[in-house]
Amino acid sequence: MTDRATAKPIPLFDVELSAGEVEAVAETLRSGWLTMGPRTEGFERSFAAHLGCRHAIATSSCTAALHLAYLAAGVGPGDEVIVPAITFVASAAAVRYCGATPVFADIVGPQDLNIDPDDAAARVTPRTKAICAVHYGGYAADLGRLAELCAERDLALIEDAAHAPSATAPGSDRKLGTHGLAGCFSFFSNKVLSCGEGGLLATDDDEVAALARSRRSHAMTSGTWDRHRGHAAGYDVLGLGYNYRIDEPRAALLAARLPGLEEDIARRRRLVHRYRELLGDAAGLSVPFSDAAVDRSSCYVMPVVLDDGARREPLRSQMQQQGVQTSVLYPAVHELSAYAGGAGGPLPRSEHVARAELTLPLFPALGRTDQDRVVAALRGGLA
Ligand SMILES: Cc1ncc(COP(=O)(O)O)c(C=O)c1O
Repeated sequence: MTDRATAKPIPLFDVELSAGEVEAVAETLRSGWLTMGPRTEGFERSFAAHLGCRHAIATSSCTAALHLAYLAAGVGPGDEVIVPAITFVASAAAVRYCGATPVFADIVGPQDLNIDPDDAAARVTPRTKAICAVHYGGYAADLGRLAELCAERDLALIEDAAHAPSATAPGSDRKLGTHGLAGCFSFFSNKVLSCGEGGLLATDDDEVAALARSRRSHAMTSGTWDRHRGHAAGYDVLGLGYNYRIDEPRAALLAARLPGLEEDIARRRRLVHRYRELLGDAAGLSVPFSDAAVDRSSCYVMPVVLDDGARREPLRSQMQQQGVQTSVLYPAVHELSAYAGGAGGPLPRSEHVARAELTLPLFPALGRTDQDRVVAALRGGLA
């Protein structure tokens, strides 16, 4: 039995930076050039090569990248974008930034927390402009069927790949985030590749890339770095843009961390396989996705779905008392105050998962002993 007074709390996620990664930031600070410049360009080139796509445009966040992606898809006032109900609010908020309406689709179910292509198809109207495929936890949504639907109905496919750097879909080596018109990544501090706050839009489409680059920085015809290098003396502004720029210390940190990404994901996958083994026979819960899917996933989080959602909050407080932090990914967006009351009726599978999902600690440096403590606390709480 764990001694509660002495056992160290186990956080939901943890970030460990190497000395080299810290030095990359320190060196950038010493350089005196802090806003978007050569390190950002270098990271964009490396990430595009990593994904195997033509363009990577770094942004201040994934939310900003999603806004730019929807704008590039032509989403505007009066339009609709279909978004899964189980996602972080950003996937839907960025639709609203365009003056459009997010229309929520149900997920497949407790075994697959991604958008259900049939339910998405049923929600297409003449106003629909795009479908947002969120790859929950780094597990691929059904891109084959979503791409087919988008082609049939002339819609843009936008991938919210916030959780999914380096992940792939079944039967394809192509990285998630490169299958649709644009893919959006998050480098928020708890993400698989993190720098604090940051994001990126990936695309093979030259026009989408040009729009994203321009709108990222106020639609100005030149940036501070161009003017510093003498490439431009002044600037014009060609449209309504935003300040969605990343800065050099963050870009330097991302560039320094990118080479370690595959190893971090390999560790995450080993931990998830072990969780699945340890929880395979646990009564009262199921573990979403399959063993095969784990090996294609970036394994951002470790979700379990309880049979009885009413047990979740007591279980969470019991686990917290034993020093195990848990979370919920996610409340259903259509049930949040600012999104309630939309058209479309109930979304029963999303609503069940929103009440019954529990997210367990997962990060590359999570040790086996701590993982055993998480499992014991979970099993004990459900006994
Ligand atoms: C699915 C999803 N989309 C978008 C975002 C927004 O990312 P950011 O915090 O970088 O804006 C997140 C962040 O948690 C997310 O989980």
